[in-house]
Amino acid sequence: MFHTKKLLLLGSGELGKEVILEAQRLGVETIAVDRYADAPAMHVADRSYVIDMLDKQALRALIVREKPDLIVPEIEAIATAELVKLEEEGFTIIPTARAAQLTMDREGIRRLAAETLGLPTAKYRFADTYDEFAEAARAMGFPCVVKPLMSSSGKGQSVCRSEADLAESWRIAMEGGRVQQGRVIVEEFIRFESEITLLTVRTAQGTQFCPPIGHIQQGGDYIESWQPHEMTASQLEESRRIALAITDALGGVGLFGVELFLAEDKVYFSEVSPRPHDTGLVTLVSQNLSEFALHVRAILGLPIPEIKLASPGASRPLKALEAWDDYRLSGAAEALAVPDTQLRVFGKPVTKPGRRMAVALAAADTVLEARSRAAEALGKLKLERD
Ligand SMILES: Nc1ncnc2c1ncn2[C@@H]1O[C@H](COP(=O)(O)OP(=O)(O)OP(=O)(O)O)[C@@H](O)[C@H]1O
Ligand SMILES: [Mg+2]
Repeated sequence: MFHTKKLLLLGSGELGKEVILEAQRLGVETIAVDRYADAPAMHVADRSYVIDMLDKQALRALIVREKPDLIVPEIEAIATAELVKLEEEGFTIIPTARAAQLTMDREGIRRLAAETLGLPTAKYRFADTYDEFAEAARAMGFPCVVKPLMSSSGKGQSVCRSEADLAESWRIAMEGGRVQQGRVIVEEFIRFESEITLLTVRTAQGTQFCPPIGHIQQGGDYIESWQPHEMTASQLEESRRIALAITDALGGVGLFGVELFLAEDKVYFSEVSPRPHDTGLVTLVSQNLSEFALHVRAILGLPIPEIKLASPGASRPLKALEAWDDYRLSGAAEALAVPDTQLRVFGKPVTKPGRRMAVALAAADTVLEARSRAAEALGKLKLERD
């Protein structure tokens, strides 16, 4: 048996696919799990399973059967209370079962950051009914941001600009939540100048930060990211202070994506992923070790050298506009003809509106040039119905 360890990945998207590839390079046996077949990470894992990861019995049965050394959540929608029990029984959850549980919904992590740690965040209130929500929005003032407690990639999220938007924001939140549950968070709208992800790696040896990644979001989902992001020394210092506090509180080993808003005179904590971050795909071309390689080294307890910027870089995801059961991606040759450009094609079985299908990555001497190359490469890619 040549495998050093057995890793079970819960959620098998494009980020998980890169994690599996890195783990395999180090001799790890890999198992990919998701709720649908042919998910990206399943294409490269040793074996895979299709289960409902929110079903605690199904989750437990699989874990007890496979007995992995490492259980690595790749998504938030998992029966995390069961992970807590499994951890108590001796299984290793990355970074910790509590981190998975706290970040599963917006309430756990927001209360930890703002109330327990006293980190600066947007003002917020939670609401369970329409009336509570309307009252919370009025108290917050307009515009405010409304999000279901459990959702990602902007699903169910809206900016409520006035009294007249209340009903529509509530409807969007109710339809976009991951689980049928009425609770929402209403947040003060932050007029930030830019937003960043500070990738933070925790190991037994200490914590390291990657150079900051700037990004642009549209409809709550990222459409462009670049590294490094230009910011002042005091903004960087404050960002690191916040990232260290939140990752120390979550504990365990692994890479975290700390999302921050940079306003004129203040840095706000937004949220944190206890795992590689989508905006960090850029690190596949911009760092000496990508966020995926760093995550795998950290969770295997392998040495992590000083994290270095290899080159300024940028990323641009390709998103589907329609739902197609059969599709083709064309334009790869033209995209890769752009200097210092790479592609990651995720191989998702079907398209859906807004679904991320591939990413164009570019390196260059400057961030500006990298961003323009990534944009040019993305412009060459086309999804076609098959
Ligand atoms: N309070 C706020 N004020 C201004 N903009 C906000 C606020 N909250 C969120 N946004 C914007 O919406 C984006 C998505 O928000 P958030 O990260 O909370 O949602 P998400 O669905 O969890 O996203 P993901 O899981 O993809 O990171 C943010 O990156 C930011 O651009
Ligand atoms: Mg986010």
